[in-house]
Amino acid sequence: MKTDILKFLNIKDGFVSGEEISIALGVSRAAIWKHIKLLKEEGYHIEAVSRKGYRLISSPDLLTENEIMKHLNTCEIGQKIIHFDTLTSTNTVAKKLAEQGADHGTIVVSEEQTSGRGRLGRNWMSPKHKGLWFSIILRPQLNPGQVAVITQLGAAAVIKAGLEMALDFRVKWPNDIILNEKKICGILTEMSAEINQVHYIVLGIGINANLDPEDFPDELKEKASSIKIETGQQIDRKQLCGKIINYFESLYRALIRDGKGTEAIDICREKSILIGQEVQIIKPGKINQAIVLDLNDEGELVVERENGELECLLSGEVSVRGKRGYAI
Ligand code: BTN
Repeated sequence: MKTDILKFLNIKDGFVSGEEISIALGVSRAAIWKHIKLLKEEGYHIEAVSRKGYRLISSPDLLTENEIMKHLNTCEIGQKIIHFDTLTSTNTVAKKLAEQGADHGTIVVSEEQTSGRGRLGRNWMSPKHKGLWFSIILRPQLNPGQVAVITQLGAAAVIKAGLEMALDFRVKWPNDIILNEKKICGILTEMSAEINQVHYIVLGIGINANLDPEDFPDELKEKASSIKIETGQQIDRKQLCGKIINYFESLYRALIRDGKGTEAIDICREKSILIGQEVQIIKPGKINQAIVLDLNDEGELVVERENGELECLLSGEVSVRGKRGYAI
């Protein structure tokens, strides 16, 4: 009901009468009033004037279905958005929902995660109302070997969305988005599959949007930051989220068409922070020095080892560190 009422308030710039809404929704005016009261409690600023009706003045800074939908122009991703005030991890919850049969394109988003997860078993800090913590459930007709490219799709979508908001994001293969040499976003792709068939993929994106310096523990301050800290400006989380989902859908459809994700890989190549850099390749139990030559058409990082050997790295168990610091 609240969603339907908001649709009315969003269509009209001016006032919409309680009577008009009640007729359209087939409920009493008292019921409309009750739900308007609930919306106000959620942070919607709604003006109510007798004989004129209701007018939406402003919406809260929340990543609810209503608020994100306003920014979407998609037809498969984000047709269903499940919003939480708090949960453990959007990836964990999305995986459970996928097991229970949730539709392709369903998005799980939360204002806060209490056990946010990063790659290689790391934690992901996710304070309330300060970031974008969301996961997309995908059910593509791909084989498991093609799934790594989904992370590049996520990265490319974040980069394109950032550009529209005058943010010059770069990508540190395979899953970090960098602003001013600091990590401001991480991507975690998980899947359930058999040898030659993907059951589902969960693509989790975490963006440090409006975190303040005191939100970061000392050990992270060197390498991580937020968009707000780097630009000095609060970012509109809903708008950024909507743009990422829109770009993601377009890149995803291109992947399904060409089976390769060329468009996304091209964007990641162009915005790569690693190409041309000397790096350390960290695999379980060993560290090697190498120079990064390219991102190949399969989305693998092509490096030249000290002994001159070329190696194509798959994202799985590898960490790449710049020689000077975390990023480059
Ligand atoms: C990384 O950089 O190691 C990946 C971080 C991914 C974090 C996001 S936040 C939304 C989603 N839910 C999680 O628990 N993790 C991902």
